[in-house]
Amino acid sequence: MWTRSLSILTIVVAIFTTSSNGQTCANINPGQGAPVAAAGVQTRVVMNGLRSPRGMVFDTAVNLLVVEQGGGGIRYIKLTDNGGTNVCVASSKTLIADNTLNHGIDLSADGKTLFASSLSNVYSYPYDAVVGTVGTRMTLVQNMQNGGHSTRTLWVSKFDPNMLLVSRGSDGNIDAPTAQIRSGRSQIRAFSISGTSTATVDYTAGEVIAWGLRNSVGMSEDISTGGFWSVENSVDDMRRQGKDVHNTNPGEELNYHGLLNTTAPSPQRGANYGYPACFSAWDPSVLPNNANIKVGTQFLIGDPSGSNTDAMCLQRQAPRLTFPSHTAPLDVKFNRNGTAAYIAFHGSWNRQPPDGYRLSRIEFKDGQPVEPATSTTTAFNILSNSNNANCPSRCFRPTTLAFDSKDRLFMTSDSTGEIYIITGA
Ligand SMILES: *[C@@H]1O[C@H](CO)[C@@H](O)[C@H](O)[C@H]1NC(C)=O
Ligand SMILES: *[C@@H]1O[C@H](CO)[C@@H](O)[C@H](O)[C@H]1NC(C)=O
Repeated sequence: MWTRSLSILTIVVAIFTTSSNGQTCANINPGQGAPVAAAGVQTRVVMNGLRSPRGMVFDTAVNLLVVEQGGGGIRYIKLTDNGGTNVCVASSKTLIADNTLNHGIDLSADGKTLFASSLSNVYSYPYDAVVGTVGTRMTLVQNMQNGGHSTRTLWVSKFDPNMLLVSRGSDGNIDAPTAQIRSGRSQIRAFSISGTSTATVDYTAGEVIAWGLRNSVGMSEDISTGGFWSVENSVDDMRRQGKDVHNTNPGEELNYHGLLNTTAPSPQRGANYGYPACFSAWDPSVLPNNANIKVGTQFLIGDPSGSNTDAMCLQRQAPRLTFPSHTAPLDVKFNRNGTAAYIAFHGSWNRQPPDGYRLSRIEFKDGQPVEPATSTTTAFNILSNSNNANCPSRCFRPTTLAFDSKDRLFMTSDSTGEIYIITGA
């Protein structure tokens, strides 16, 4: 009798312990110290130990899929959600064991097709969100291999569910052939993913949504308006008219591409954004012949020759906003009501002191940033490292962003193998 009561008690204690664990996730210390958070912002590490986590997306069953660029393929993560930032991993497994998948990931509107990319291809897979399995892979887009920039970010339009956007960067720092549209590099192109299109096509068969974009790793729509935006990583080691101006120029860019759910002509759709000849100013003060150059003005790299002039650069589509040089924006995502865009700045290698390594918020209103194109104060820090002098080696590096169904923001940091959750941003 006594023994039996004790064992019942033991079981009761065990059940109680299990359920209280379920209400509080174990703490995971941030690998490089706690991020500096803006007032009212809460953050927590949801998962660590990932191999260079890059793109991520939530599926229809609220699982998180993340590409591990360091050879892990795509991981399927079931979350335990105790509310707020109290979210942890219930279980995780490899969904697709393919070490060539390196960044791009998205899902079809119905959540039943998964898209992922490698250096050379975009693939689709039938996807079961509840079980966490994929079916037979098909190749949608091919022939994207080049040296230099290797990621091909993917975005399925939320306004035209048959449209898959694929961003491809340059081959190296200055990729001269990208001055020709047929180069198929430094561009964002659109591909049909309607049920009937199953043939594999070359990247150059896609519709050009934008070109002259050096390496626009981040792109997405503002779901409150349908506006499509991207963030561009601009040129390294810049010289103008014989002078080294690279430490503070050019600016990184936020570019606007218009609406995707219409074929009506727009000034942005199909436009050239300037690369490889034209770049936007971040610090006009150090530029030779800067009389007409403000923050965000596009100007010519190097020396003028023939039709290559500052005047030509003014004909190119200018960025909507410009950010400090070399801060390396890798993602841009909008909140549901379109009052803010969040940008993951991966951080610099080509300037002193190092800069970037932060998650920033840009205020939006009526589908456009509140601040003018000349603003230098538009990016508000949400999370940053306590000392950028330690970066990149001893810092977290914001890489990509995703909102969950409760509008909480998730952020990968590839350098630390972590996924953070952020509220109050
Ligand atoms: C595109 O989407 C926006 C935002 O929902 C909407 O206002 C607009 O009417 C749509 N345009 C077309 C052509 O469907
Ligand atoms: C927009 O949504 C955010 C949460 O993402 C909220 O804090 C803000 O008050 C909302 N703004 C408006 C104008 O609805």
